[in-house]
Amino acid sequence: MQFRQTKLNQDEEERKVKILFRNSVPEIPSTTYATFAIYKYPAKFIPQVIAYVLKKYANPKMKVFDPFAGYGTTGVVARVYGNDYEIWDLNPIIKVLHDTATSKQIDINLYEFISEIKKCSSEFLPRWSNLEYWFPEEFIEVLSKSWGHAHELEGELKYALLVPLMKVTKYFSYADEKVHKLYRSKYSKKKVTELLKSNWKEKFYSMLEEEIRILLKKIVEYNRMKPKDVNFEVRAGIDTLETKLEKEADLLITSPPYLQAQEYIRSTKLELFWLGYSEEFIRNLSEKEIPYRKINKIEVRSPTFHEFRDRIKEEHLLKLYDQYFYAILGAFEKLGEKIEDFMCIFVGQAKIRTMKVPIDEIIVEHLTELGWKHEITYIDQIVARVMFESPVNPASGIRDSRMKTEHLVVLRK
Ligand SMILES: C[S@@+](CC[C@H](N)C(=O)[O-])C[C@H]1O[C@@H](n2cnc3c(N)ncnc32)[C@H](O)[C@@H]1O
Repeated sequence: MQFRQTKLNQDEEERKVKILFRNSVPEIPSTTYATFAIYKYPAKFIPQVIAYVLKKYANPKMKVFDPFAGYGTTGVVARVYGNDYEIWDLNPIIKVLHDTATSKQIDINLYEFISEIKKCSSEFLPRWSNLEYWFPEEFIEVLSKSWGHAHELEGELKYALLVPLMKVTKYFSYADEKVHKLYRSKYSKKKVTELLKSNWKEKFYSMLEEEIRILLKKIVEYNRMKPKDVNFEVRAGIDTLETKLEKEADLLITSPPYLQAQEYIRSTKLELFWLGYSEEFIRNLSEKEIPYRKINKIEVRSPTFHEFRDRIKEEHLLKLYDQYFYAILGAFEKLGEKIEDFMCIFVGQAKIRTMKVPIDEIIVEHLTELGWKHEITYIDQIVARVMFESPVNPASGIRDSRMKTEHLVVLRK
């Protein structure tokens, strides 16, 4: 028994390969290239992960599917490689981000475009009881005119304005735009105080103009990559756990929600209100987020899952742990029935208190029990964050080289 255990582990070790995804796709020179990062979205894929998978495991005839698509990176990249795709997310913001990022080149006279926003007579105010907590009264008129105009526009002109306006709106709020969470920080309060003392109206429009200029340039860059006219479907605002995949797909690629709370809906609440969603709608979405969502127990066929579960003592952490794995494993189990070739699942490292939970191994164990074959696990190092987070060892004076990693599990049918 002892021997068999060691042997199995060795086999598994051989299926783990280190990689630096960001340097692995020459035609995508940076993570923010083209429209792959026109807006901050928590735990967003870097485009190279999808591109690498499509080049290595797919051909242009294959349809790809992402059931937790967030920003919609899977779709934005799939077009470049000529793959049909279907993407889902609970967060309806995916529609705006995806449609903007995949837009055809937009030609506008920026000077006239901004003049029209300034002149706009229609107004829009979000249905949000907390509006005054997040915005000083002084800014409301300019915001409501700009958003009034945005809601009146159609087609590509709308897409030229929405994302830049989301960015400027956040900047002109008490929210700290430097963090993902919707959060009123010392910095952001000072930011608003300083803005109010300045010629803020002029600043608002010049910032908006600059953001539109940047976006249009990024869209040109994306179109230079020659995205193809593929078939696609974006399903925004749906609960993956309650949705059936109607048509088969060849390859699933996704990064499921994190075990530690990211609270994607809360992070983008300010934007969702200005986009026109109601308080009740947003609350309902929040309640469906994994891992807070209530969910029926499933039989988890992973010894590692049970081994780590036994070590958790606190009731609420145990509940979170169970809900998380019942949700994601259940989803992959069900969706996997409609996947023809590969499931590629990207997960970060997660901790319950100080205990690291090997989510990737739990996924592999459970799905291989159900008949999937474990092809490989790529171990990616998170370069950017390492620069800030790895502490200098006081004894040696050398930067501690323990790096954070993210794991891409590849399973074959
Ligand atoms: C790690 S993020 C995915 C990021 C994505 N790979 C990207 O490139 O932006 C996980 C996503 O799962 C979504 N999510 C959470 N619970 C969900 C549910 N019940 N149904 C559908 N999506 C859900 C979140 O809104 C979030 O966008």
